[in-house]
Amino acid sequence: MAPEQSPDTDASADSGLMDKIVNLSKRRGFVFQSAEIYGGFRSTYDYGPIGVLLLRNVKDQWWRSMVQMRHDVVGLDAAILAPPQVFEASGHLANFTDPLVDCRNCNERFREDQLDDPSLCPNCGGKDTFTEARAFNLMFKTHAGPVEGAGHDVYLRPETAQGMFTNFMNVLNTTRKKPPFGIAQIGKSFRNEITPGNFVFRTREFEQMEMEFFVPPADSQQWYEYWCNERYQWYIDLGIPEDKLRLRAHDADELSHYSSGTSDVEYLFPWGWGELEGVANRGDYDLTQHAEHSGERIEFFDQAANEKYKPHVIEPAAGATRAMMSFLLSAYDEEQVGDDTRTVLRLDHRLAPYKVAVLPLSKKEELIGPCEEILAQLQPRYMTDYDITQAIGKRYRRQDEIGTPYCVTVDFDTLDDKAVTIRERDSMEQVRVPIAELVTHLDERLTA
Ligand code: GAP
Repeated sequence: MAPEQSPDTDASADSGLMDKIVNLSKRRGFVFQSAEIYGGFRSTYDYGPIGVLLLRNVKDQWWRSMVQMRHDVVGLDAAILAPPQVFEASGHLANFTDPLVDCRNCNERFREDQLDDPSLCPNCGGKDTFTEARAFNLMFKTHAGPVEGAGHDVYLRPETAQGMFTNFMNVLNTTRKKPPFGIAQIGKSFRNEITPGNFVFRTREFEQMEMEFFVPPADSQQWYEYWCNERYQWYIDLGIPEDKLRLRAHDADELSHYSSGTSDVEYLFPWGWGELEGVANRGDYDLTQHAEHSGERIEFFDQAANEKYKPHVIEPAAGATRAMMSFLLSAYDEEQVGDDTRTVLRLDHRLAPYKVAVLPLSKKEELIGPCEEILAQLQPRYMTDYDITQAIGKRYRRQDEIGTPYCVTVDFDTLDDKAVTIRERDSMEQVRVPIAELVTHLDERLTA
């Protein structure tokens, strides 16, 4: 719960890449500025037709590795709105704050801990123009029902984690799981960040992928190390290069009051190293707090040892939107092809928004029929794009830019040989494959 640190800077970072990603996102429909027709809602973003697929694939891969492929983790989808008691117990009402300063000269607001020089306003250049720092709570507050005021306050959750702690006994009693076991959740969280920025890196509304892993206290260090390693590997496995990823253990003075160990998985963004995910050893802090504040018994009875205990918690907490951005940045490539520069997103197949695009060489009626038959075969298996106009070279480039691994081209020969051309994104190699073998051919290459 400690405020996030400012990212380190690194001179080798490529700042032009960021502009290219922002530009591509808008141009191809990954990410749009929210409420753009009204001038835009600052630091809030909408995920367009391609972005929603990429973000969904990131979340699906997380769910697959954290829930589907394990027997010791179950899922949850808890409410976004919660009463103040939850956040009194968690400590968010008292402690989830950033130090806010106002410039008396230009009225801009800053997070004091993110200023290079705490006496100099980066907006107007004023010296010693800042007010005293005050603790600004990052939670969004609203009210339930038509009446405002005490007794009706509710908060938008600033993390998904509390839902796992408040439901710990419900899950324990309904699933027959026992420690070590985890509860995983993907969902929106909200923080009234003072200085959102760097595109979707820090926004006020974002998605998290969090898992609370409950373990016998004596085993917590071993599980902490296990999850640090697992989570680092997850990004590598999905295509983040090793020289752009690091696992950084927090120094003692960075640790939250409840944590006996935290490591961040960090990515080398164009502006420097930034956090993708934190893995924390939270001890029994959360279950103890909720037991005390609710008056409920929150513990595990170990029948074999005939003893009760409060499990300790290891928490890998990732940002889905940040992860998506790191996959985009890593995949972006430009290469010279003849006189042309080809932009290609070398995304892992599992993350690619569309797996296949079906492209008739011409929009003439006789080619549309075979295309529709092919679509009927592919659509139940893969997200498939269909694009019928423009020169075929331009259509290939469009698919390269959104990371589509395979293009299937239907031409006039198809009418005779009942075959299509399959073009592979990275090598641009083309092979002729009978339509009857198309699904098998793609399955062999796309199924992880
Ligand atoms: N339950 C622990 C927790 O929420 P956190 O480090 O504050 O820990 C976890 O958040 C992850 O959520 C971060 O590593 C980051 O990827 C993502 N995240 C946090 N604040 C964010 C923001 N304002 N915008 C986008 N992602 C954010």
